Amino acid sequence: MRVLLLSCLLCLSTVSQFPLDPLWPPGPGVIVTTQQPNGELASILSQIDPARIEAIISKLTTFGTRHTLSNQTDPNRGIGAARDWIASELETYAAASGGRMTVTTESYTQGIADRISFPVNISNVFATLKGSSEPNRVYVVSGHYDSRISDIMNFMDDAPGADDDGSGVAVSMELARVMATHTPAATIVFATVAGEEQGLYGSEFMAETMKNASMDVQGMLDNDIVGSPVGDDGTTDPNTIRMFAAGIPPTETFAQVTSRVNIGGENDSPARELGRFVAEVAQNTITGMEVQTIYRPDRYLRGGDHLSFLKNGFPAVRFTEPRENFAHQHQDTRVVNGVQFGDLIEFVDFKFTARVAKVNGAALWTLANAPGTPKKVTLDTSQLTNNSTLRWTADPNAASYEIVWRPSDQTFWTHAVSVGKVSSATVAVSKDNVDFGVRAVGKNGLKSPAAFPG
Ligand SMILES: *[C@@H]1O[C@H](CO)[C@@H](O)[C@H](O)[C@H]1NC(C)=O
Ligand SMILES: *[C@@H]1O[C@H](CO)[C@@H](O)[C@H](O)[C@H]1NC(C)=O
Ligand SMILES: *[C@@H]1O[C@H](CO)[C@@H](O)[C@H](O)[C@H]1NC(C)=O
Ligand SMILES: *[C@@H]1O[C@H](CO)[C@@H](O)[C@H](O)[C@H]1NC(C)=O
Ligand SMILES: *[C@@H]1O[C@H](CO)[C@@H](O)[C@H](O)[C@H]1NC(C)=O
Ligand SMILES: [Zn+2]
Repeated sequence: MRVLLLSCLLCLSTVSQFPLDPLWPPGPGVIVTTQQPNGELASILSQIDPARIEAIISKLTTFGTRHTLSNQTDPNRGIGAARDWIASELETYAAASGGRMTVTTESYTQGIADRISFPVNISNVFATLKGSSEPNRVYVVSGHYDSRISDIMNFMDDAPGADDDGSGVAVSMELARVMATHTPAATIVFATVAGEEQGLYGSEFMAETMKNASMDVQGMLDNDIVGSPVGDDGTTDPNTIRMFAAGIPPTETFAQVTSRVNIGGENDSPARELGRFVAEVAQNTITGMEVQTIYRPDRYLRGGDHLSFLKNGFPAVRFTEPRENFAHQHQDTRVVNGVQFGDLIEFVDFKFTARVAKVNGAALWTLANAPGTPKKVTLDTSQLTNNSTLRWTADPNAASYEIVWRPSDQTFWTHAVSVGKVSSATVAVSKDNVDFGVRAVGKNGLKSPAAFPG
């Protein structure tokens, strides 16, 4: 059927002769729908301001270069000046938080390594908005403030880094500003990291520090190159953002991967469940965006800071603009045959970046105010039955639970059944035919990402 469908994409009339029921097999549940932004979230999202985003990216380009190996002490030029400006700007946002938001510059000395020619201070700058009821449950939004040009080791010449990744830094900072006056249940970290272009050094340090501190990081959103909807052929796609969601977690052992694959669980990593959640909460008229989910860790030949979080066992996805123009990334600023190369601010669309910030904001706020993702979810496989029994650890912060499922060839959850405030439930759907998940529902009605039974 799949082969038929693919070969018939060009002949729609033939497709209709082979109707595939996307909801097969029929189940007892209701059809899963999107979670729409509520009053407080809608108000937060309405404050995201393209003019603020423009001001942040403009300022970042004035430091000349933000290369990781560039000057750390000059007050005007180099990564140190950029680091200190980001921190002082975040402090002004935190001032409105009544003490709930704190700003941290966390650093370490990276010794000589790949793409690091001398020992260098790598600093991450972030604002932490402490959760009111579950401060150890953490969500991270991040962009990298270091920049580069054609030669990855050139730390002297101008590297404006407007799109890569001034845009992602602006998403983190603008969300910090608009959320500072609100009180999420779980903690949100608005991060800007260094060392990305040299090899993800800053994010690796941050994720490992969080793991070592036993922080329960249940989601990380990486924004890297989110500044323009225009491709190298001039076509534009202003209402789409790509979201890369990895499959099998890199932390799983061979035995774990084997058992995952044996039950058909390779499409249900925590990163994919996070991605499904983002698609459910962030595509609406308030964000004005479609989230194009791509089941792949990243684009070919590329990587990003979400990989550091995945490597440390945390679910993470990456947002990147829909059509990249490679003449505007990692390039010396120059004109060749009348074509302008370079990562210049004139190529950034601030309204587009503001919509990407809304996608992130809808996801972060819903994550931080819904209960956490259910833990220790299992599926009873002790006997042959047409019913399916799932079990999980009860969370006092959950008002009830839903069992969700989808036919295994579907991308998103299709069915849900509410099972109340319990820690196990049986549904009359055969586990042989569908993929199951369990999600928690809060008193406020917000739903967590689903957890796949391991
Ligand atoms: C950084 O800039 C300061 C002030 O301009 C200068 O004194 C210092 O030598 C520079 N450091 C390096 C490593 O170039
Ligand atoms: C890195 O630089 C910052 C800012 O000057 C400083 O506060 C920090 O102590 C330095 N970290 C290390 C590990 O040298
Ligand atoms: C995390 O802990 C490990 C094991 O103790 C240690 O080797 C590593 O340096 C720590 N990482 C950070 C970033 O603190
Ligand atoms: C499962 O369902 C099938 C078809 O509805 C039925 O024939 C079979 O007896 C059921 N098996 C059990 C163990 O209930
Ligand atoms: C299957 O589950 C349904 C719904 O929970 C229940 O009514 C039925 O008794 C169950 N059947 C078996 C054989 O467990
Ligand atoms: Zn980048």
